[in-house]
Parts: sequence; structure tokens; C-alpha cells
Amino acid sequence: MNERIRFTPLYRVRQFFQALTAELNTDQVANVLAILGPELFSVFRQLSRDEQYHAWCVWQDVLASQADGELQQAALLHDCGKARLPLTLFDRVWIVIGKKLFARQCKLWGQLPAKTAKRWQRPFICAERHPAWGAEQIQAKHASEKVVWLVANHQSVPDAFPPNYEEDYKILIAADNRH
Ligand SMILES: [Fe+2]
Ligand SMILES: [Fe+2]
Repeated sequence: MNERIRFTPLYRVRQFFQALTAELNTDQVANVLAILGPELFSVFRQLSRDEQYHAWCVWQDVLASQADGELQQAALLHDCGKARLPLTLFDRVWIVIGKKLFARQCKLWGQLPAKTAKRWQRPFICAERHPAWGAEQIQAKHASEKVVWLVANHQSVPDAFPPNYEEDYKILIAADNRH
């Protein structure tokens, strides 16, 4: 994985403890709904409590860069694919350890079919494939082409960028890495 989008162990440890308590309040939920609209909001709400909080933090971060509506939506939805194969706290710790010790195998485990993968391999499936899953989900809910692209590519380094996408991509990746 590219250096720019590497998730540090500290990031994961922070996420771990955040997951124990994090929850959006009523006002925050209303603000998210206002940005996403009802269809995309329904996708957002499928995320676990702590993932919603993480997305909210990334959104607040991109707001500081005067993000337009599409980048704001991408910030809120970038991890929405994680709802398909939710991770426990233990899974997240395992992903950090696994990627440190068995980086190449983790990539391979990430490509396994979820139904046949062993329990201990499944967290890597979510880690590898949630960008594609998320893009699929929000495309079905009529997200714009740019929002779909940003979600699909938030964990990779694209060879090329469509016109006017690169700056938003960089802002999103940087914000995600900070939270
Ligand atoms: Fe992600
Ligand atoms: Fe994220």
C-alpha cells in the first residue's frame, strides 16, 4: 500500500478505543442527513456506531478544506462498504497485526470469497474490498459519479484521475488518515 494511505498502528489503536464510546448525537445525525439526503443516509446508517463516528470525523476534517457537497458526501460514505461484513474490535486488532506480519498473505486472503474464507481470514476481505462494496451500494442509491469514484478509490493509488478529481482525492485520503 502506498505510504500516503498507510494506516498506522497508532491510528488503529485510537480507533479501537474510540469504538468503545463513540456515538453521534441527535444534532450530528440531523446534519449528516442534510448532507446525504434520505437515500444515501440510509446507507450511512447501516454502518456500526463507531464507523459512523469515524465518518463524521472525516467529514468535519474535509470541511476545513472548504469541501464541496460531493467531497462531503464521499467523506461520510467512504467506508460504507464495511457494513457488508462488519468488523469486531478484535478483527481490527488482527488486521493491524496481520498486515504487519503477513502483508502479502493478507492481500490474498482479502480476495477470498466470504462464504468459504475461514473466520480469521474474513476481516481481510472487508479491509480489502469495502471500497468496491461501498461504491456499489451508493451507486445503487444514485450517488454522483464523483462520489462513487472517490469511495471506490479511497484505499488505492489510481494510475490516472478524471478531470478535477485529484485534489478531492488527496483531501479525502489525508482526512481519513488523520482519523
Ligand atoms: Fe476505508
Ligand atoms: Fe475511513
